[in-house]
Amino acid sequence: MSKITRIKGFADYFPPESEAFTFMENAARDVFSRYGYRELRTPVLEKTELFARSIGEETDVVKKEMYTFPDRKDRSLTLRPEATAGVMRSYIESGLATREPYSKLFTFGPMFRYERPQKGRMRQFHQINAECLGLTEPAVDAEVVAMLWQFLSSIRIPNLSLEINTLGCRECRPAYNEALKAYLDSVPEDGWCEDCLRRKTTNPLRVLDCKVPGCKALVDNAPALVDSVCEECSDHFGQVLAHLDDIEIPYTVNKRLVRGLDYYNRTTFEVTSGEIGSQSAVAGGGRYDGLIRDLGGPDQPGIGFACGMERLLLLLPEEEAPRPDAYLAILDAVGMARGFLILQAMRARGVIAEMSPTPKSVKAMMRQANRLRSRFCLLMGPDEIARDVVQVKNLDSGDQNDFSVTSESDLDALADFLR
Ligand code: HAM
Repeated sequence: MSKITRIKGFADYFPPESEAFTFMENAARDVFSRYGYRELRTPVLEKTELFARSIGEETDVVKKEMYTFPDRKDRSLTLRPEATAGVMRSYIESGLATREPYSKLFTFGPMFRYERPQKGRMRQFHQINAECLGLTEPAVDAEVVAMLWQFLSSIRIPNLSLEINTLGCRECRPAYNEALKAYLDSVPEDGWCEDCLRRKTTNPLRVLDCKVPGCKALVDNAPALVDSVCEECSDHFGQVLAHLDDIEIPYTVNKRLVRGLDYYNRTTFEVTSGEIGSQSAVAGGGRYDGLIRDLGGPDQPGIGFACGMERLLLLLPEEEAPRPDAYLAILDAVGMARGFLILQAMRARGVIAEMSPTPKSVKAMMRQANRLRSRFCLLMGPDEIARDVVQVKNLDSGDQNDFSVTSESDLDALADFLR
């Protein structure tokens, strides 16, 4: 029989990677809760229209990368390529947008993009995502960036840099688009890739985000948004930067940063690490003040970010696998019954414990205890059972002691010793 394998670009995560995922999620929960964020869980499957309308028809994500298919009744569905659109749909649909427009929500989970898999780039990948809804003030933008920065620092991600830009608003963007279009049209057509030839007219801002080297070089001389935005946007951006200065978060203004999704306006940012190759963006985000309205909700602003967990995984300092506190070695069936009960009493008291599931020779059990890197070996032979004690051997030092296991307080003392 032929073996069934994983889908290309999809991964199984075994320990220690699976544990690193849990570690990152717990660290995010811990940091985000200090900023008043609460968890939201949304479906991985949504109606295709949600992504087309929010992320934008002209983006690579919608044009080339979505897992889209008809369901049994021929409705077009898409595996979410990112979390923000679904969070907005649910914020509007649940009535939160009207009832409690100021909401701070985070969500974790798998996202799906049909990209060419490589190191740090998967077709199923995982994001840690946070959204702050209902507020426009510059301090909010700085606070969102600060939360991201604190999270990444808390899990000790090395060599990070924060790039930030402003994309203007619906008032000033049209004039910039015209100026950009004029510049793009001034370049001979054979300079652009096929996609950019189309984007030039359909969505000129996307040309700035093209990854093709020829196009990248050509946009170097394009007018920069940060120099063309209206006074209000410029002032907003200035205040965001001033707040970041106040709280001592280092950043670089990158005039070319436009992000790959269409819903952004004003503040946008990306965090990259010098420690990983071409897929260096570990997190990205920004403000999206028109998105909720465009999805049929009230005109509420929003700002957020997402971190790519696979990229963070490449950067996490290696942790040693946790060691069990105790390994129970048993010599016969009576020892098994008594030892199992003691072991359960230890686990109930927080001891990390493993056991031999059948009686074996002392030598075989010692080998197993060492293989598991257990700190202690507990031995229950006929002699120990007769005296109602357990023999406890420290596998690092070789020291050996008997512990009485008659009363609850004996068990408490043993657990204290083992933990
Ligand atoms: P994004 O920049 O498309 O933004 O993705 C955020 C992060 O997800 C990236 O910086 C990267 O670390 C990770 N990522 C993206 N694609 C892949 C992939 N194929 N494999 C592995 N990691 C990947 C968003 O998704 C926005 N929704 C962020 C946001 C939230 N903006 C506002 N709120």
